[in-house]
Amino acid sequence: MRILFVCLGNICRSPTAEGVLRQQLQAAGLADRVQVASAGTGDWHVGNPPDSRTCAAARARGYDLSAQRAQQVKASHFSEYDLILAMDNSNLRDLQALRPSGTSGELDLFLRRYGAALDEVPDPYYRGAEGFEQVLDLIEAACRELVVDIKGRI
Ligand code: 4NP
Repeated sequence: MRILFVCLGNICRSPTAEGVLRQQLQAAGLADRVQVASAGTGDWHVGNPPDSRTCAAARARGYDLSAQRAQQVKASHFSEYDLILAMDNSNLRDLQALRPSGTSGELDLFLRRYGAALDEVPDPYYRGAEGFEQVLDLIEAACRELVVDIKGRI
């Protein structure tokens, strides 16, 4: 199974989701069965590591995001991934517009599908430390639901 997380810049929310899911899959013994990646709808940060605030907040909870590099979503991703999960409604709309006709992979809002208090992961880029903590809280909880779903699918 192949999963792609998508946000705007691919330096805050989706790299966090990639790192958290990878670690939860490792703990569940499923790491070799699921391919996880992330991308941004925008190209400003392509080739860069995640934002230093994202890395620091993740590291404090035991996730190492330092090897990740930002990439932009491209048309081929829609056939390369089975499940594409957007962090907010704006990302979802951009993905729907980009999606080539005839691609069958699932596309959805991450938190809408994996039951959370909010529908969107709020963009932390212009917020303080609490924004990055909220991103981690929401993503850790949704990834737990996602792992349950993955177990039922593979
Ligand atoms: P992300 O956060 O979409 O969670 O990676 C952002 C990163 C960069 C920008 C906006 C949001 N930016 O405007 O550069």
